[in-house]
Amino acid sequence: MVFCQKKTLHYHYLKKNNELNKLIKIRFYPCRLLFRSKALINIKLPLLVLSFFKKNTPVNLKVDVHSHLLPGLDDGSPSVENSIELLQAFESLGYEKVITTPHVIPDQYDNTSEEILSVLESLRKEMRTAGLTIKIEAAAEYYLDEYLIERLDKKEELLTFGNQYLLFETPYVNEPVFIGEAIFKMQSAGYQPVLAHPERYLYLIGKDEKVMQWVEKGLKLQVNLNSLKGYYSKSSKKLAESFIKKGIVSFLGSDCHHIKQLEVLKEVKESRLYAKAFDKCEILNNHL
Ligand SMILES: [Fe+2]
Repeated sequence: MVFCQKKTLHYHYLKKNNELNKLIKIRFYPCRLLFRSKALINIKLPLLVLSFFKKNTPVNLKVDVHSHLLPGLDDGSPSVENSIELLQAFESLGYEKVITTPHVIPDQYDNTSEEILSVLESLRKEMRTAGLTIKIEAAAEYYLDEYLIERLDKKEELLTFGNQYLLFETPYVNEPVFIGEAIFKMQSAGYQPVLAHPERYLYLIGKDEKVMQWVEKGLKLQVNLNSLKGYYSKSSKKLAESFIKKGIVSFLGSDCHHIKQLEVLKEVKESRLYAKAFDKCEILNNHL
């Protein structure tokens, strides 16, 4: 235990600066810090030193908010057997509930709310037979296009999770021109918009200001867990880190389509960035 012994620490990165060098001789005692220079009181160095030693407590995610586990509805699980296998893996990872979110993309995955809920019920029965204790709910991952805007205008009821959270995705390369309008319409219709994996959108690279503005207007961000280990790309990891540092991430999701994505999760949960997400952001998963 470093902090239980009287110990003098010197920091090499400050040694070149003579003035600061006088200030960085700090003694640690079991229950208190004694700063040997009065000048330290008025500068941020103590905070810097404390944050250097701060140990983040890893949080166990019990609820997942983004996955593709309903058999045959999209590019996720192709069969009931596969869905059961994936759910068993979630259970082994310590999850107690998954909110699965099939794609709703016109002309590609034309899943209606009724179909999604019907497949959910069938899967629940299979889960009981298989002896699974993990809970499953369903919402959807809506693709943002003119059709979704039309559905919002018509006040159609869409599938949500938690407190009216509406998960939506956008194209990866080009920013939809109507995204600001869409966020506003979702809110006007009583939903809380949640942007799925913003770190994966190339059009958001270097656009932190824009994202901040959306968040200030009420948009919530759901970052993919595997982005924290660079599973998709270096740029998505970098963008995820930038959102985390700004404290603007609300949900972490597996976006699980297949078992390989869950195999990476164990490593993700031991990563520095995972701990940082809980340190900097209010992650809402476990409140659902
Ligand atoms: Fe997804």
